[in-house]
Amino acid sequence: MTLLLQANGISYAHGGHHVFENVSFEIKSGDRFALLGPNGAGKSTLFRLLSGELTPQSGAVTQRRGLRIGYLHQETAVDPEMTVLETVALAAGDPDALDLHLTRLELRMAEPLDDDQLTAVMDEYTATLGRLEEVRDDRIPLPGADILAGLRVPEADWGKPVGQLSGGEKKIVALAGLLAGQPDVLLLDEPDNHLDLEAKAWLERLLARSDGAVATITHDRYFVDRISNRIFELAHGKITVYHGNYSYYRTGTPEPARTRGRATRA
Ligand SMILES: Nc1ncnc2c1ncn2[C@@H]1O[C@H](COP(=O)(O)OP(=O)(O)O)[C@@H](O)[C@H]1O
Ligand SMILES: [Mg+2]
Repeated sequence: MTLLLQANGISYAHGGHHVFENVSFEIKSGDRFALLGPNGAGKSTLFRLLSGELTPQSGAVTQRRGLRIGYLHQETAVDPEMTVLETVALAAGDPDALDLHLTRLELRMAEPLDDDQLTAVMDEYTATLGRLEEVRDDRIPLPGADILAGLRVPEADWGKPVGQLSGGEKKIVALAGLLAGQPDVLLLDEPDNHLDLEAKAWLERLLARSDGAVATITHDRYFVDRISNRIFELAHGKITVYHGNYSYYRTGTPEPARTRGRATRA
């Protein structure tokens, strides 16, 4: 069990409203945790902190050197002009797809852009160059076609520009790309909302086989039970960690005193 990520006494507030205060926990390879908590508890904010997208106001999130994180946002942003297969290949870190993306970004830089747009394109260019260097390691991306088929994206859609798909379909394409890239840590914010039962079952099997760590936010308690071996419960700015799946979490909670004894208060 390799230590991948560590949160040390992190606190975070959105505009004066405290979401977390002094929270600590570790994520190791093989951890499969589900984040539970009511709407507004801070589940998505925690993912943004873990991914480095947000910086805690105190404390620190430490990542193992060279850690690759794949983060599926609750609301995904995909390039509407790329096709489904190109999107998956790019997210998976396919060198040809990354090269093509660099060329497109260069063309965009030559267009008349305002300062914000130019900064965004240049940031993306730098990030893409960084990924191109990263993929020279020995990790072989999973074939995008297998994943799209597993998630039951109709083959007739694979050549379509992503802009033609519905919001739910776009999110499935983004998920396919993350899975193909086989990151060390997968942060999945409601990955299953638009999946049918067969696709969900396929995803469960894939996640069970992955070598890294997986953290999932979902409202489907059966899905939680099948994919998790730890539960993070978010409430009132604190996280309680249960070392078990959802059934354990349920049966472990009838008495608050006993619960505290079994769980680690983070
Ligand atoms: N960008 C933001 N600016 C201000 N407040 C935010 C922002 N994002 C989230 N919040 C607030 O932080 C709290 C946690 O939000 P969030 O992490 O999205 O919760 P969850 O994903 O558990 O529903 C909520 O009270 C929400 O209103
Ligand atoms: Mg959320």
